[in-house]
Amino acid sequence: MEEKRKKRVFSGIQPTGTLHLGNYLGAVRNWVALQDDPSYETIYCIVDYHAITIEYEASEMPRRSLEMARDLLACGLDPGRSQIFVQSQVPEHTELAWIFQATCTAYGELQRMTQFKAKSTGREMISVGLFTYPVLQAADILIYKAGFVPVGEDQVQHLELARDVSRRFNKRFGRTFPTVKPLLTPTSRIMSLKDPEQKMSKSAGESHFLPLTATEDEVRTMVKRAVTDVGPRPEGEMSPGVANLFGILEALGDEEHHSSLMADYEAGELRYVDLKDAVADAIWETCHRIQERRAAYPEERVRQVLREGAEAVRPLARATVDEVRERVGLARP
Ligand code: AMP
Ligand code: TRP
Repeated sequence: MEEKRKKRVFSGIQPTGTLHLGNYLGAVRNWVALQDDPSYETIYCIVDYHAITIEYEASEMPRRSLEMARDLLACGLDPGRSQIFVQSQVPEHTELAWIFQATCTAYGELQRMTQFKAKSTGREMISVGLFTYPVLQAADILIYKAGFVPVGEDQVQHLELARDVSRRFNKRFGRTFPTVKPLLTPTSRIMSLKDPEQKMSKSAGESHFLPLTATEDEVRTMVKRAVTDVGPRPEGEMSPGVANLFGILEALGDEEHHSSLMADYEAGELRYVDLKDAVADAIWETCHRIQERRAAYPEERVRQVLREGAEAVRPLARATVDEVRERVGLARP
């Protein structure tokens, strides 16, 4: 019997410095799970071309990419089972993005992107690259003809654009690309501990996110200070801060504490200090495990993984761009 072809998965993350608990539970942990599933073939990318669309320090960018790679490896990505590389090392992505922009992306649809609206407000200089960001994202995925993209909820609109670009290209130039589907994580949104009504994110400020590099003291202090009550709630509704702590406990797999504390809550006997202790223990256990693995990864090895990753995917990207050049009329005259 013919072996069934593996389904190709692609995802990307910006080199933002260190990962936080939201990135880990909402995205990266899912990347690791997919690599362990034999029906998938997984390609993961650190998207530095995307990162240069807003203000940044050029001299820091290589280090940011390297540290992100090291974090991903520490979280469990395995270069034996996944390709891991830095986007700018495969410049074909930008050529495909240009062809998509020129032939099958409408100005109006980019104007509707909520991430663009959010990231462009209050900026002194809004680059055209920030505007066309989702087209490069579509090229990242489609250059490998990947059909499955594990991301958090906030990226769904970008994936819809990728699907439209792919459909339009196929219709105009002949069937070339697959349909792009998001693979959403069960825990798709971890909220800020300080303000449980907004999502945990680096851009919200220091006290809003829990970095995976936190020390045990830092973890315990942050969890202890987590906001639990935010004014009166309708009868029978759990406050968002408490719900977030239960969500984190569940996501980290501590079912035993989760169910006994939930029973306390339902009986009206929950002591927040007990919930917080359990959450802090679970977070620290995860951070500690990742930190140990991180320390065991020499920098030279991380560079080698990235080099080999880029070498492995480059021929795939090249083949798609050659095929596309042919289809759109840019083959050698
Ligand atoms: P970002 O750090 O915003 O560039 O996000 C990188 C990845 O992590 C994306 O796939 C996001 O959907 C995911 N992510 C970021 N923040 C959270 C959060 N608070 N909860 C769940 N997922 C998140
Ligand atoms: N835009 C994504 C984010 O902000 C990062 C990204 C770039 C990406 N290219 C991608 C995600 C391709 C999935 C697939 O998180």
